Amino acid sequence: MTQEFAPSRVSQASVPIPFEIHPESSEEQALIEPLLDRAFGPDRRARTVYRLRDRPPAEGLSYVARHADGRLLANIRYWPVMIGKTPAILLGPLAVEPSIQGRGVGKALVAHSLGEAIRRGHRICIVVGEPDYYAAFGFRPASEFGLILPGPVDPHRFQARELVSGALKGVSGLISPAPVGTPGQA
Ligand SMILES: CC(C)(COP(=O)(O)OP(=O)(O)OC[C@H]1O[C@@H](n2cnc3c(N)ncnc32)[C@H](O)[C@@H]1OP(=O)(O)O)[C@@H](O)C(=O)NCCC(=O)NCCS
Repeated sequence: MTQEFAPSRVSQASVPIPFEIHPESSEEQALIEPLLDRAFGPDRRARTVYRLRDRPPAEGLSYVARHADGRLLANIRYWPVMIGKTPAILLGPLAVEPSIQGRGVGKALVAHSLGEAIRRGHRICIVVGEPDYYAAFGFRPASEFGLILPGPVDPHRFQARELVSGALKGVSGLISPAPVGTPGQA
């Protein structure tokens, strides 16, 4: 799938970026850790969400955006989690190469991967990120659903979305990593 997105920040280069979204390959993994460090800073692992990422990521939901010339531009991954006894997925990390941020690559990765998550039968997605950014994808404050993360988090950044209508009805409580061997783990 090749996409061309007009820049969303006028201060960035005004030329659209030609890029494609692909499933993440094993050869790309060595490039992704440095990309995450550049996008989030090296202290990123101290964040509460990393307590939910000590196991394999969700199967089939790790994607990269590659420039038409082959360069890695961005990456998105999801992690299987439990809300009490209810399975869900944690969106992120989502990292876009700093030099091309604000030009539509992040949004395209979120839209593509959420579509695939729905296709694979996932029912609930949570994220810790900018509310304005994720509200556009239907995320709402997690406090509305009584969801709790296993550590400190800015409550405005913690959000949730039903991927299937009604999936969060009656679901609340502490979020934990999905047990190893849970279906849907890579
Ligand atoms: C946040 C991030 C993933 C967004 O991806 P991106 O490719 O830069 O952004 P996009 O071009 O897809 O989106 C652009 C739109 O989102 C908005 N946006 C971008 N970054 C934003 C942020 N941090 N907070 C709020 N809005 C943001 C832009 O204003 C723009 O809005 P518009 O479409 O209404 O003009 C990227 O900037 C990034 O990697 N940042 C550092 C790491 C990070 O914070 N990751 C997200 C944590 S979950």
